[in-house]
Amino acid sequence: MHVCVLFFLVLGINSKGSFMAAKKRLCVFVSGSGTNLQAMLDADIEPAEIVLVFSNNPEAYALERARNHNIPTEVISHKGYGTREEYEEDIIRVLEPQNIDLIALAGFMRILSPLFVRHYKNKILNIHPALLPSFPGIHSARQALEYGVKFTGCTAHFVDEGVDTGPIIQQSVVKVLEDDTEDSLQERIQQEEYRIYPEAVRMVAEGKIRLKD
Ligand code: GRF
Repeated sequence: MHVCVLFFLVLGINSKGSFMAAKKRLCVFVSGSGTNLQAMLDADIEPAEIVLVFSNNPEAYALERARNHNIPTEVISHKGYGTREEYEEDIIRVLEPQNIDLIALAGFMRILSPLFVRHYKNKILNIHPALLPSFPGIHSARQALEYGVKFTGCTAHFVDEGVDTGPIIQQSVVKVLEDDTEDSLQERIQQEEYRIYPEAVRMVAEGKIRLKD
């Protein structure tokens, strides 16, 4: 086939007659309530399209949210696996036939090993409830309160082989209030997550964010 024809087939044309990038097949990884998944379902993330929701937890309410939007789900419990790598090899086996372009971790409560991260190099995104590199790991709002910072926030970032260390895509600042509890602070941080995470996914899918070196 002629190169030009191939080019037009891959790009497609939108309603205004201008050329669009091909849709990026997005898989969202969840373990819990899935409010970030919901934000992505409600937002305009084109040219990304959620084609699969994956969970390690069969009880995750996020799966219900996916079903409500007729999005296919896959569940593989991590329980019973000898090693992290054996578990991830099974996840890869499920994902491979789906030709996934991007993975968004949205409250996925498993640390991914280098095996998985290398397999989907620069294709995995995460949302973290703090201004990285501050307060990585769990209970970030609690960590922020205990430290006494006046501002915290959230970070959308690429996932690399460390824990919450990958290149930053987008951040949003949240002011810590005098009478904040962990829950009230977490709640305001999450409101910002719902705004910046879908935006980060869209920008990556559009090819507006590129990693150098
Ligand atoms: C979010 O606050 C996110 O920062 C963290 O896990 C939480 C997931 O919440 N990574 P939900 O399942 O999206 O409601």
